[in-house]
Amino acid sequence: MSEALSNLLREDRRFPPPAELAAAANVTKETYAEADADRIAFWEKQARRLHWDREWDEALDWSKAPFAKWFVGGRINAAYNCLDRHVEAGNGDKVAYHWEGEPGDTRTITYAELLREVSRAANALTELGVRAGDRVAIYMPMIPETVVAMLACARLGAPHTVVFGGFSASALRDRIQDCDARIVITSDGGYRRGAPSALKPQVDQALTECPDVRNVLVVKRTDQDVEWTEGRDLWWHEAVDKQSDQHTAEFFDAEQPLYVMYTSGTTGKPKGILHTTGGYLTQVAWTHWAVFDAKPDDIYWTAADIGWVTGHSYIVYGPLANGVTSVMYEGTPDTPHRGRWWELIAKYGVSILYCAPTAIRTFMKWGEDIPADFDLSSLRVLGSVGEPINPEAYVWYRTYIGGGRTPVVDTWWQTETGGMMITPLPGVADGKPGAAMTPLPGISAEVVDDAGNAVPNGAGGYLVLTEPWPAMLRTLWGDDQRYVDTYWSRFEGRYFAGDGAKKDDDGDIWLLGRVDDVMNVSGHRLSTTEIESALVSHPNVAEAAVVGATDPTTGQAVVAFVILRGSAAASGEQAAKELRNHVAAEIGPIAKPRQILVVEELPKTRSGKIMRRLLRDVAENRELGDVTTLTDSSVMELIRTNLSTPGAADDD
Ligand code: PRX
Repeated sequence: MSEALSNLLREDRRFPPPAELAAAANVTKETYAEADADRIAFWEKQARRLHWDREWDEALDWSKAPFAKWFVGGRINAAYNCLDRHVEAGNGDKVAYHWEGEPGDTRTITYAELLREVSRAANALTELGVRAGDRVAIYMPMIPETVVAMLACARLGAPHTVVFGGFSASALRDRIQDCDARIVITSDGGYRRGAPSALKPQVDQALTECPDVRNVLVVKRTDQDVEWTEGRDLWWHEAVDKQSDQHTAEFFDAEQPLYVMYTSGTTGKPKGILHTTGGYLTQVAWTHWAVFDAKPDDIYWTAADIGWVTGHSYIVYGPLANGVTSVMYEGTPDTPHRGRWWELIAKYGVSILYCAPTAIRTFMKWGEDIPADFDLSSLRVLGSVGEPINPEAYVWYRTYIGGGRTPVVDTWWQTETGGMMITPLPGVADGKPGAAMTPLPGISAEVVDDAGNAVPNGAGGYLVLTEPWPAMLRTLWGDDQRYVDTYWSRFEGRYFAGDGAKKDDDGDIWLLGRVDDVMNVSGHRLSTTEIESALVSHPNVAEAAVVGATDPTTGQAVVAFVILRGSAAASGEQAAKELRNHVAAEIGPIAKPRQILVVEELPKTRSGKIMRRLLRDVAENRELGDVTTLTDSSVMELIRTNLSTPGAADDD
């Protein structure tokens, strides 16, 4: 952390907002003062940007903290807010999505069409017995039906759990079981890197251990051959297309569960983050409008997967609630060529782009002459999310993608926070490369020391959120105690985010990465324990320790130290390769270790705790730190001199 800190201290470039943007900005400096004067009244005002069938009696009930209720007594439907009200206001012909398939096929979907399709899907789900409160699992590629499926669930008050299509059958099984989903929506596959990639086989495999799943709805996307379980599996086009395109949305309590999104924590078991309806929609709609300065004629693109929270909040719920036109892209940035994103921006006239630093660093590596071939002059605001953006990537993004004109908003938030929390506003703040700046109006954050005291400007510590916010997670699915222990116990009465942060001399916040055993690989959260469990579940592994090592492209990379069992130890190279594939099968390809170091011993303290800090030093090739608390300090030397690095990431 100290190295990151001193680098950041040398960063003094500033980029003021463009005058024209500032003059017409949706949000100005005054909004901060307004929210400071009455935070609750501020959020009530933002909630009124939505349609409520019945207004709330009380804006916030925090009497059972940390279990919050927002807009108590209010009645709302998320899908109605994303669709019907725009159509009723005469905007049915406005494009909701310009969808682009990886092979180049396209679909243009208006708000009216999306409403009809969601209505059909809601009728189909009703026919399959889905009722308010039932959980539906969605395991899909980036196709319009994914949005349709989510909104159909929301319309019925049936919480969805979207599982990222890159996760394995075991990961899917765990999530279906944890939230007891009875219906799964999937597709035969999707296109990635120029080829169809299958999804249905993973579903079939997962469901061998999920006997309670009644039906699987399968969208035909790639036309791959699929196994079929009669009576359980149904083609989407057969079940949905025949339905009426009329469906009357029912209004639900503001606290009706909207979705469960699983994310990695410090232990092996993923946490089911529960989001509810009224507060969540209020915050994602307002932040999307405020932070991107979204205007009615903007063309907006979040280049993320819907399987992550960024996709939920800023591909689906935020932009649709605001009636904005979005671009949605199915595939990878280098298919069929490395200029695909820039080609799409030029083709659709994208004005707002939101993506992760890992993508930006990849584009930097490919070189600025690639975007230079495309007309990117439509862009006016750029956003970054998922991990700290290093100042070099920030400046490259602004210069070569934003043409030196566009503000870059570095938005800090989490699956748990539901929506953006700490970020500059493009028409208000001077951009500081690498800084997430200040909490948004209505949000309260602080950086504290070990004892929970606020640190002075210029010092670092832990990021905490000091007041409840509308889109906050309400609990962990089925585990209230873990919710309290994980987030609300480290610092009394405050939410502990798990991130290190620093306040600069102006009091602006810089994020410094996780302080717990959670890694951030390409903007995706992975837990060290989860990968260790996957490794030791392999018969060849006696013991494993996983650390996140700094990586120039992905932010962090997974590095595993393993002790092999007697007979396996001889075949180091082969074993490492097999283990990498094993982790991919257990969790998903994103969790594959970049390196597997086969060692004979692991450094441990006297109480038997693995000293990860030392392993991280080895993984990052740093000089060894203080080893006096090791049971046997020669272990580190052993590791260093004997380490073999077979199976480095080359096959994905
Ligand atoms: O460590 C922080 C990092 O990503 C974590 C949240 O990950 P996840 O729940 O997967 O959500 C990612 C998309 C919102 C945080 O605890 N993180 C996210 N955004 C930033 C960030 N770190 C620094 N700067 C950011 N802008």
